[in-house]
Amino acid sequence: MKVIKRADFGESFSWGVSTAAYQVEGAHDVDGKGLSIWDEFVARKGKIYQGHHANIACDFYNRFPDDLELIRKLNIPNHRFSLSWSRIIPEGTGRVSRKGIDFYNRLIDQSLALNIEPWVTLYHWDLPYSLHLEGGWTNREIIGWFSNYVSVCAHHFGDRVKHWMILNEPMVFTGAGYFLGVHAPGKKGIRNFLAAVHHATLAQAEGGRVMRQLLPYAKIGTTFSCSHVEPYRQTIKDYKAATQVDALLNRTFIEPLLGMGYPTADLKILKRIEQFVKQDDEAKMMFNMDFIGIQNYTRELVKYNPFNPFIAARIVKASERNVPLKTTMNWEVYPESIYHMLKKFAAYPEVKKLIITENGAAFPDTFMDGKVEDNLRVYFMQDHIAQVLRAKKEGVNVHGYFIWTLLDNFEWAEGYLPTFGLIHVNRQTLERTIKSSGYWYRDFLSH
Ligand code: GAL
Repeated sequence: MKVIKRADFGESFSWGVSTAAYQVEGAHDVDGKGLSIWDEFVARKGKIYQGHHANIACDFYNRFPDDLELIRKLNIPNHRFSLSWSRIIPEGTGRVSRKGIDFYNRLIDQSLALNIEPWVTLYHWDLPYSLHLEGGWTNREIIGWFSNYVSVCAHHFGDRVKHWMILNEPMVFTGAGYFLGVHAPGKKGIRNFLAAVHHATLAQAEGGRVMRQLLPYAKIGTTFSCSHVEPYRQTIKDYKAATQVDALLNRTFIEPLLGMGYPTADLKILKRIEQFVKQDDEAKMMFNMDFIGIQNYTRELVKYNPFNPFIAARIVKASERNVPLKTTMNWEVYPESIYHMLKKFAAYPEVKKLIITENGAAFPDTFMDGKVEDNLRVYFMQDHIAQVLRAKKEGVNVHGYFIWTLLDNFEWAEGYLPTFGLIHVNRQTLERTIKSSGYWYRDFLSH
């Protein structure tokens, strides 16, 4: 097989690494930061693997100058990170924290000084807790709260940040946080979920409009989780089940954004969103993004299942199947999935540009003699990057690839068990050690 080179992607392709505030920053209650739904959720019994929390996480809040040095050392030109809403506006609305703004100013300035381009996600799941007390994403008022926060960020950071992402994976934070209750804020039920979906859809478009108005030259995008979905067996029932799961996981958020409405024809339950829809919402859900961020980790196989009240389908987990390789998350390693997703999203004529804003893998690493030789992660990256190139060569307008993630960090409900980083973090000392995958990426990026 031909070895893939950075040059195969062309000069203008953006290579990067992605992180998220809550997963790395720590400093959960210093310098006036307000409580977020994740700060509260991790304190509940039984919610997080072995009671882990992110009060300290990777201490990125204090160690970011060294971590930026590591990014530079690895030749990574772009760093995607998120802003913590409750660090900037502690109560969610109202007073802006000077210290919160200062922190992100230092992070941005230092990045630019090292020639690292900041790509900023406005919302990566850490909603201010005060807003949760008002219903959080189930309350339509969130469109106004969020727009205000977006305008504060545009005002303070827009002179230097050129690439913005409005939301991180709305399907995950609404599904896991408001339907299954396994992520913060731990709400359950179809009603909460559908309300959250609709308000996130509206906030996403409104956030885009606020940004564009305040920063007409900025590149504005948003990011979606997605997985190639296939029927488990070649039967009509499984095929139909797969169509529904595909509509849920891959189409629910992008189609209203593009003016197509929710994919109700293929997923009936979404019709119940109507109860939350007001006049003119169809138009308000739309926004012409400069790019769409695709985040892909695996594929899903789906079986017909008549017992699920909302969707006659069941995802057959990798642990129930005979898959050659799976990750610590129990996700099948299936590089073609990223290719299929690029083709799928590129098929919408309104989508201008695609960027892989996350892709990566958690494997059980071994730290030995001061090294982590994570060859599985290296192969994972090579195979996925090859699939991105395959799509690009077939004409897909893909302009970037960001690996998830820089550091072994707090992986939400799974705590610190899964390690996704290019850099190992000692959980006692927080000492950083670049893994083989980090060196591989460095070498790939320097040719
Ligand atoms: C994404 C998420 C990240 C990270 C990653 C790995 O869904 O945006 O925060 O956790 O998955 O599971």
